[in-house]
Amino acid sequence: MSVYAIWNNKGGVGKSYLTFQIASEYARQNYNKKVLVIDLCPQANSSSMLLGGMFEGERNLNVIHNQNPRKTITGYITDRIRSPYISPKTGSGYYTQVSRINGRIPENLFLVVGDEQLEIQASRVMGATQTGPEDAWRIVHLWVRDLIEDIKLSWNYADCCVFIDCNPSFSIYTELALSAADRMIIPFSADGSSQRAVKAVLSLVYGETRHEGEQKSEFFLYTERYKMALPQIYMYVGNRLTQMNNSSASAFKTVVQEIGKEIWNVWNTSPSSFCIHPNGAPTPTNQRTFRKMFQYEVNDANTASVVSSALGIPISFLSAGQKEVGVRRITVNQSQLDRQVPNIQELAKNIE
Ligand SMILES: Nc1ncnc2c1ncn2[C@@H]1O[C@H](COP(=O)(O)OP(=O)(O)O)[C@@H](O)[C@H]1O
Ligand SMILES: [Mg+2]
Repeated sequence: MSVYAIWNNKGGVGKSYLTFQIASEYARQNYNKKVLVIDLCPQANSSSMLLGGMFEGERNLNVIHNQNPRKTITGYITDRIRSPYISPKTGSGYYTQVSRINGRIPENLFLVVGDEQLEIQASRVMGATQTGPEDAWRIVHLWVRDLIEDIKLSWNYADCCVFIDCNPSFSIYTELALSAADRMIIPFSADGSSQRAVKAVLSLVYGETRHEGEQKSEFFLYTERYKMALPQIYMYVGNRLTQMNNSSASAFKTVVQEIGKEIWNVWNTSPSSFCIHPNGAPTPTNQRTFRKMFQYEVNDANTASVVSSALGIPISFLSAGQKEVGVRRITVNQSQLDRQVPNIQELAKNIE
């Protein structure tokens, strides 16, 4: 059982989109395993896609958010604010079998629904790290890990895989996500700010300082103090590769190379921050074998991607042809599907 956090310190790089696509495809490939998605982003984009997309999914989210108590991440966090330092063991009451709401999703995929109230709860969560027992910081940071433990127990420890969609900001709930995760998937897009964001990830999580005398993040310092394990880098994913024209393709290549170099440098100083995969694979010895193990690419599938997320149909399950999206009819071409589906399938196949 592994827990993957999908995180980059930048918005719009495809964290939620890839969570939706990879979790669904992984569930399809591994029908005998349970797949759990935890949406730890208050925008709840991956929840919306999983629950049926732009129209249906949003309606379904509304219904779930109107329940009391809320069967969402906020419901569980409410329990924890009440009982911060002793696990109430209520986590198994907060997940939803997605196929009951969206028939397009495999039956073995479960979701702890995202909730915008998380934003409002953040200061209370922070507060709980600052009072209470001496190791309050550590205990509070394990809340999401406790939540996963409760759900696993309710499944009798059946084989499962967990994906956590994160908010871009390095907020308290992102810290909770990273404390629960064993592995990290870092999506990025083809621009300079994406490169800076990847550097920020390396510095915030792994304490890789970029300038002389720079302060390390509190998160890094506390995880050291309490000897907590950090998630290991599992993949960095160049997302939305476009094949529009030569100049944009080569601009993208440059960014991918630069980010690759940055991550390669971290590998050289702290290889233990990386997760060698698949299990038993030989340790990379040069930049080429390193890239082969850790670097992935996902192309932009244009209209097919839009239709997939608008209708809540994972792209690897989507067929070509005319689709009704709201009041419009939109055509999905096979060539668009062929650009991205193999990437998603390959990515999911490489997840253990
Ligand atoms: N590979 C892709 N191909 C096409 N569109 C994509 C792809 N990845 C992401 N998108 C789109 O880009 C936008 C931003 O992605 P999103 O997953 O919401 O980013 P994040 O969660 O990192 O903020 C969304 O509209 C999403 O549907
Ligand atoms: Mg998102």
